[in-house]
Amino acid sequence: MALDYIEIKGGRRLEGEVQISGAKNAALPALATALLTSKKCVLQNVPDLQDISTMLKILEHFGARSQSFDSTYEIQIENLGSVEAPYDFVRKMRASVLLLGPLLARNGMARISLPGGCAIGVRPIDLHLKAMESMGAVISLQDGYVEARAKKLKGGEFTFGQVTVTGTINSMMAASLADGESRFLNCAKEPEVIFCGELLKSMGAKIEGLGTPTILVKGQTSLSGFSHKLIPDRIESGTYMVAAAMTKGEVLIRQTCPQYLEAVIRALKDSGANVELQSQDDILVKGANEICPLNIVTQPHPGFPTDMQAQFMTYLCLANGESQMMETIFENRFMHVPELMRLGAKITIQGSKATIKGNASLVGAPVMATDLRASASLVLAGLVAKGTTKVHRIYHLDRGYEKMEKKLALLGANIQRVPQA
Ligand code: UD1
Repeated sequence: MALDYIEIKGGRRLEGEVQISGAKNAALPALATALLTSKKCVLQNVPDLQDISTMLKILEHFGARSQSFDSTYEIQIENLGSVEAPYDFVRKMRASVLLLGPLLARNGMARISLPGGCAIGVRPIDLHLKAMESMGAVISLQDGYVEARAKKLKGGEFTFGQVTVTGTINSMMAASLADGESRFLNCAKEPEVIFCGELLKSMGAKIEGLGTPTILVKGQTSLSGFSHKLIPDRIESGTYMVAAAMTKGEVLIRQTCPQYLEAVIRALKDSGANVELQSQDDILVKGANEICPLNIVTQPHPGFPTDMQAQFMTYLCLANGESQMMETIFENRFMHVPELMRLGAKITIQGSKATIKGNASLVGAPVMATDLRASASLVLAGLVAKGTTKVHRIYHLDRGYEKMEKKLALLGANIQRVPQA
């Protein structure tokens, strides 16, 4: 694992255009979907990220042949070579749980090490397992592995006790090859869920209700391959929008999707930033001289995304008054706070509520990234801090942001990756 760090000399106003990459959180399930068919699957606009390489390595372990040209990937898994996802792969990425549904549906059995990934809370997978049980799977847990068996999955009905993004996608994938119709209630409505549902439909699955809480899936005996272009990464988009606003800059966010970003756009506008849609795909963000404080509550889509919480915390450190941030999705997602405080932020935490004092004069220091979005919040802090900020453990950042330091440098930031042996 590279121990590279990112060094930022703060104080530059960001200006220019930034091109948004394909969505990591749509790419990972889309790649897992290739397990449902022996036919060729083609995915375009795939970002060059550590999590994508990890997923491809896992698929190769299952017998995938893959090739890529620029950001287009072709994958085919004619014969499944294995049905076990070992710890060594899974510990690197929680999204490996997405292998469970497709493996079980195609092969009648799956054995997956319990997932790792970002250390943000307990993050159980009980709802994934219960949804599989509702389709007739028998689940057992042994030696850190989940084993699921079902000769043939059968249509079932399941209500998610909590809205889960990958849980909804996993269930749709499994149900697409089940015998009969499945009905899932209290489903996630995130754009990545809709994207994966559309992908499954293009493979021949019959799915209704995407983007609503109730999804119906009519299983098929087999599915064809797919050729699809990934949707833009809304969290990457939002991160650069905050970067523009907090440096009082002017940045055109290109090839994104404004509809996915309504809650983020609303929050930025409420803070005083100027946000204009320039076309169907482009958003112009101009920072204001004064940043107004905000009260934000994270919610499942279309609410304010938990994956933007850390970045907004950094932004609100600069507001001209006290802000509040309530995290309702994950119970341990304030790990960036002690690091931000090392830079001079004044934040207090009470349970799931953070109070951000505002008017902070951030000063550069060495800081340590703890998870993907926390890393982004520290890079943002470095952009406005006086002096030099060194963000260590950026392997978290590399999991989810394509060439972040290069994109920021193109916008005028004084930022570089310092390679370490
Ligand atoms: C996905 C995203 C992640 C984002 C999160 C919430 C991917 C690859 N990752 O993660 O970036 O932060 O959605 O928008 O798409 N839960 C359970 N039991 C389960 C499943 C979830 O209790 O079986 C809980 C979780 O602990 C959490 C909440 O449900 O409190 C939502 O988690 P979930 O939507 O499942 O997150 P992920 O799909 O893992």
